[in-house]
Amino acid sequence: MPSIRNFSIIAHIDHGKSTLADRLIQHAGLVDERQFHDQMLDTMDIERERGITIKSNTITLPYTGRNGETYALNLIDTPGHVDFSYEVSRALASCEGVLLLVDASQGVEAQTIANLYAAMEHDLVVIPVINKIDLPSADVDRVKEEIENELALDSEQVILCSAKEGIGIEDVLEAIVERIPPPKGSPSEPLAALVFDAHYDPFRGAVVACRVVDGVVRPGDLIRFLSNGAVHKVEEVGIFGLKRESRKSLSAGEVGYIIAGIKTVSDVNIGDTITLDRMPVEKPLPGFREVKPVVFSSIYPVSSDDYPSLADALEKYKLNDAALVYQKDSSAALGQGFRCGFLGLLHLEIVQERLEREYDQSIIMTVPSVQYRFKLDTAETVIVENPQYYPDPTRIVSAEEPFIRASILCPDRYMGAVMKLCSERRGENPRFSVPTPGRVEIVFDMPLAEVIFDFYDRLKTVTQGYGSFDYEIIEYRESNLAKLDILVNGEKVDALSLIVHRDRAREWAVQVCERLKEEIPRHQFKIAIQGAIGGKIIARSTISAFRKDVTAKCYGGDITRKRKLLEKQKKGKKRMKMVGAVSIPQSAFVAVLKAE
Ligand code: GTP
Repeated sequence: MPSIRNFSIIAHIDHGKSTLADRLIQHAGLVDERQFHDQMLDTMDIERERGITIKSNTITLPYTGRNGETYALNLIDTPGHVDFSYEVSRALASCEGVLLLVDASQGVEAQTIANLYAAMEHDLVVIPVINKIDLPSADVDRVKEEIENELALDSEQVILCSAKEGIGIEDVLEAIVERIPPPKGSPSEPLAALVFDAHYDPFRGAVVACRVVDGVVRPGDLIRFLSNGAVHKVEEVGIFGLKRESRKSLSAGEVGYIIAGIKTVSDVNIGDTITLDRMPVEKPLPGFREVKPVVFSSIYPVSSDDYPSLADALEKYKLNDAALVYQKDSSAALGQGFRCGFLGLLHLEIVQERLEREYDQSIIMTVPSVQYRFKLDTAETVIVENPQYYPDPTRIVSAEEPFIRASILCPDRYMGAVMKLCSERRGENPRFSVPTPGRVEIVFDMPLAEVIFDFYDRLKTVTQGYGSFDYEIIEYRESNLAKLDILVNGEKVDALSLIVHRDRAREWAVQVCERLKEEIPRHQFKIAIQGAIGGKIIARSTISAFRKDVTAKCYGGDITRKRKLLEKQKKGKKRMKMVGAVSIPQSAFVAVLKAE
């Protein structure tokens, strides 16, 4: 039996996690140079395009050490973005150690630190690795200093590599087998396996990725999920090679998959404990919690006829993304649709893109919202994440909104700009520290609502790309809220309403009116766009009338040309939504909140 090592790679976005993972796979001889293609672990198109890892993948790598011993190295891939931090935490709970990757030219960033903390919470061995040493801008000494000062890790322990050029890969592998301990746990104990991921296979149902902590699981066993008590019969177990490789059993210390005829991934909870039905463990493995959506938005088909097809697409999509929640919704302006909950704005954008690209849906998403709480004069508390259900203002006693702790790391010359941005976004209680000379860490308490639209983009702009950002949700705080309605041509468009802080209501209203003016094409009549709170108009813009006669240029009898033009115009309209007499482009609903 080869000796086992379970590890993850953690890093700030773009520091080269996927590239290093691919190198390790290549080194293990699972693929030859010819088959080797970039970013093997990131399977989805969008991931590849955006260069971010969304869904964890896992792989078992055979390795023969310099000492001649054979090892099975289980690389548990983690998603790299704050939206997916719970999945990161479950993946880490399945490991004994991590490679903490730091870009040799960028140095330590906000998510490097956040990831390190997560690894420390699980008492993992941390191996610091400086990647991209091939870059001309690499500054290994400075980055070592940051690792020493900001991460409090021993810079003597740092391993240098270039994942791209294949430099230092064996040093990385040797450090894994030497420094990370083999898993503890005993095959003779009752089964306890930690679920850290799941995906959907159309033929086999849910494929559950897990780390067996104690005990053994085999095909034929009846397993029980502790969170919901569901019992299933195991059909197959195995390990993740480049493809699934079935095995006779999975036992303590091993990482692999279980297939048990489970119909959808939403029946499988990440972080859950699997045990044997006939001999269960008493206590679940620590750390389980249900993931809750924090950002909400409604999805409508551009053409109402496509509602059944959208319903079908969402159902299929959901099979592979347990974190998405949705229910039926309807809007006077947009018809029938779905209210959806997401882990964060990135998650929302991914769902939007995948629905359009993979499921061929043409959709409108309404302005994203967080979840607000209102205490009413009836002593009732209502939770509202859809502006449509904003309570009667005369009944509201108090209102609360979710706050985050935002942590921003940047060179100190940008401190003023970052402070300004955070205060504009209603940041409170600023704190600073200087982890390394020349760099500051700025911590603010901020309303989640203020960061979900474009905070990250703005931060990148004001710090010329040097600022990095991480956040966690801390608590609900009292807030002075109002519902901003948008009227187009005198008609209230419910899908454009939003809940805002009163101090920023006018600013929002002006921005939305201006953006809509740009987004909505001219019509044959004048269109007024108004922002109103409780019937009081607080902002206004006007789109002047325009007679758009596209056929005017086709004089005389050129019928085909005329028809082609008209058809083209009709196609353009397909991406529009009629609201009363006004057509609003599909993009307008989300665009209204993005600052220039
Ligand atoms: P996320 O999936 O978003 O967390 O990103 P990642 O950390 O997986 O980064 P990825 O491997 O996608 O690499 C980001 C970029 O850095 C890519 O353009 C890589 O080609 C490049 N890169 C990775 N390793 C190296 C390296 O050793 N040297 C150089 N020069 N570039 C590298």
